[in-house]
Amino acid sequence: MGGMPESILGAEHAALWLSLIESRLGMVLPPLQHRLFENRVMERMQSKGMDMQSYYLLAHQSRSEWQQLAEALVVNETAFFRHQPSYELVRRFLSQTNQETKLWSLGCSTGEEPWSLAMYARAYGLKNSHIIASDVSEKVLRVARRGVYSARRAESIPEDWRNRFGSQLPSGEWRVGDSLRSAVYFHKFNLMDVAKAPFRDLHLIYCQNVLIYFRKFDRRDILDALVMRLQPGGMLILGPGEMPDWNHAQMKRVSEAGTLAYERI
Ligand SMILES: C[S@@+](CC[C@H](N)C(=O)[O-])C[C@H]1O[C@@H](n2cnc3c(N)ncnc32)[C@H](O)[C@@H]1O
Repeated sequence: MGGMPESILGAEHAALWLSLIESRLGMVLPPLQHRLFENRVMERMQSKGMDMQSYYLLAHQSRSEWQQLAEALVVNETAFFRHQPSYELVRRFLSQTNQETKLWSLGCSTGEEPWSLAMYARAYGLKNSHIIASDVSEKVLRVARRGVYSARRAESIPEDWRNRFGSQLPSGEWRVGDSLRSAVYFHKFNLMDVAKAPFRDLHLIYCQNVLIYFRKFDRRDILDALVMRLQPGGMLILGPGEMPDWNHAQMKRVSEAGTLAYERI
């Protein structure tokens, strides 16, 4: 691992683990996270009194052991209305449609993204529009479902929307209100299983800051599969720079400065 401190698992084992992570999560673990992950493996292995080989087999075979490790890997950074130009596209899309819309927030982390989309859907869309929000991590989904955020986090929601779509708790935290809660459905889902996703006929797919950790060929396969989940006229919004050279015969690029979005023809 060029330039990195030597692996505590040994090069051969480290390579096995990295390839397991990639095949399960699609994620190419950034070198800076290698040591963190290796420590986690050592911790779990020692707590179980196992040697490396038996522990690798356990992580390979046991869903719950794998989930424990995977939770330590994913990067969960997020924020309300994180990328404003993309939300401007969402607003435009919702204002122009005369149907109840189905949106999908993919890699929704602790919920700020789907709750932001829900606020837009309530403010600019038709009444029954709803949002499917999914992530591979159970830990972040628990936070997302709870829908309670520190005052600091909630600061990025405009004050009138904070009052309209939620309430302040005595602790000073902000709690998502019922009108948004009825709009969002959380669901554990691994992007690597996108071909088996139970969602169809979506109007908008919002997928930002997830694919950046994937290899380019995986990103392409995932995006191709997402196209099939969209209705004609549906929109796919990625993070700027995440896959600018992707082309698909059924998708045309939406021109809006600072965004990366496509519309299904
Ligand atoms: C950096 S956060 C981005 C959150 C949000 N989309 C945003 O832009 O603010 C990435 C999220 O993607 C999730 N993730 C990573 N690999 C995934 C996979 N294979 N399937 C589904 N979600 C995944 C992580 O658990 C994490 O919550």
